[in-house]
Amino acid sequence: MRTLANFNAGPAMLPTAVLERVQAELSDYRGSGMSIMEMSHRGKEYEAINAQAEERFKRLLGAGAGYRVLFLQGGASLQFAMVPLNFLPPGGSADFLMTGAWAEKAYEEAAALGQARAAASTAADQYRRVPRPDEIALGPEPAYVHITSNETIQGIQWHSFPDVGGRPFVADMSSDILSRPIDAGKFALIYAGAQKNLGPAGVTAVLLREEWLARANKNVPTMLRYATHVKNNSLYNTPPSFGVYMLNLVLEWIETTGGLEAMAERNRRKAQLLYTAIDQSGGFYRGHALPESRSLMNVTFRLPSEALEKKFVSEAQAAGMVGLAGHRSVGGIRASIYNAVPPEACQTLAEFMNDFARHNG
Ligand SMILES: Cc1ncc(COP(=O)(O)O)c(C=O)c1O
Repeated sequence: MRTLANFNAGPAMLPTAVLERVQAELSDYRGSGMSIMEMSHRGKEYEAINAQAEERFKRLLGAGAGYRVLFLQGGASLQFAMVPLNFLPPGGSADFLMTGAWAEKAYEEAAALGQARAAASTAADQYRRVPRPDEIALGPEPAYVHITSNETIQGIQWHSFPDVGGRPFVADMSSDILSRPIDAGKFALIYAGAQKNLGPAGVTAVLLREEWLARANKNVPTMLRYATHVKNNSLYNTPPSFGVYMLNLVLEWIETTGGLEAMAERNRRKAQLLYTAIDQSGGFYRGHALPESRSLMNVTFRLPSEALEKKFVSEAQAAGMVGLAGHRSVGGIRASIYNAVPPEACQTLAEFMNDFARHNG
C-alpha cells in the first residue's frame, strides 16, 4: 500500500500498477531467467519492447506514418542543443516563444550555436501567462519555431497552440506529454524527458517528422545526429534499456486507463480541486499563473509570507504530502500533479489547503 501523496516535480510519481509489475518481473523477465537489465539490447526481448514502446507512443500521440519515435539520453536539456545542432543552418535563425525558465534555457542553447530570436515573451509579466496570438511576431523564415508546452517552474501551460503558418514547429513537452490529446501533425519535432509523465529519469522521448531530416545539418557528431538514431531505431549504441522498458509499461497503463481523453479529463478534475482551493481562500493563496494560462500539471502559488510557506510545506509533509516546495528560483508552493498522481491525492491536498488557510489566515 502506498499512502504518501507525492507531488514531486520530476522525477515524479509513477503509476503504482507499473511499479508492481516491474517488481514482479524484475529478476526473471517473463520466464527468460534474466532481468531486463541483464539482457542484450540486441536480443529479441528488448527489440520487442523497443518496437512496442515506439508504436504505443506514436499511437497515443496520433502521429501518422511520416513520424519516427526515438528514445535517447541526455534529458530534455540535450535536446535544447540537439535541435539547433541539427536544424539551425549556418546563417539561419530560430524563433522562440518565451514563457518561462525552460523556454529561456532552450533559447540560450540555440543562441550559443547560431541565431535565436524571441518571437514573443511574457517575461515582463513574470511569466504569469503565455503570449496571446496578437503578441507573437514570427520571423518570415525561421528554421523553426520553438515552444514550451508547459512551464514546469512557473506553472503555466498553452491550452491551444498558436498557428505558426507552416513553419517547422518544435515543442518541449517534458512536463505535459501525454497528459491530453494533441494534434501531433502540427509539429516537426516533439521532445520530452521521461521523468514526469513517461517513466524513470534517463530516457528522452522524441517524435520527429522524418521528412524534416532531409534538411538537417550534416556536420554534427554521430551521437548528436537525429539521423543516426532514426537509422538505428534508437539502438545505435547501448540504450537506457530499463528506462525504455518502464516507459513502455507506463504507455500501456495510459492506454488501458482510457487513453488521452480520459487522462485529460482526470487531470482537469485534479487541477480544478487545487485551483478552487486557491480561488476560495479569500486571497490567502495567490496563484502565480493567470487563470487563462493555469497549468494542469504544476499548480504554483504563494502564501502571505515565506514563514507561512515553510510551515505549509512542513505540516503537509507531516500529513503525508511530499514535494510541495516551489522551485528555488521562484519560491512558494508547487504541486506537480502529473498523470500518475491520483485524484484522491489532490482532494487530500485541497482539504489541507482549506484547513491551513482557516488556521493561519
Ligand atoms: C519543461 C522542461 N524542459 C526541460 C527540462 C529539463 O529536462 P532534463 O532534466 O531531462 O534535462 C525540464 C525539467 O524539469 C522541464 O520541466
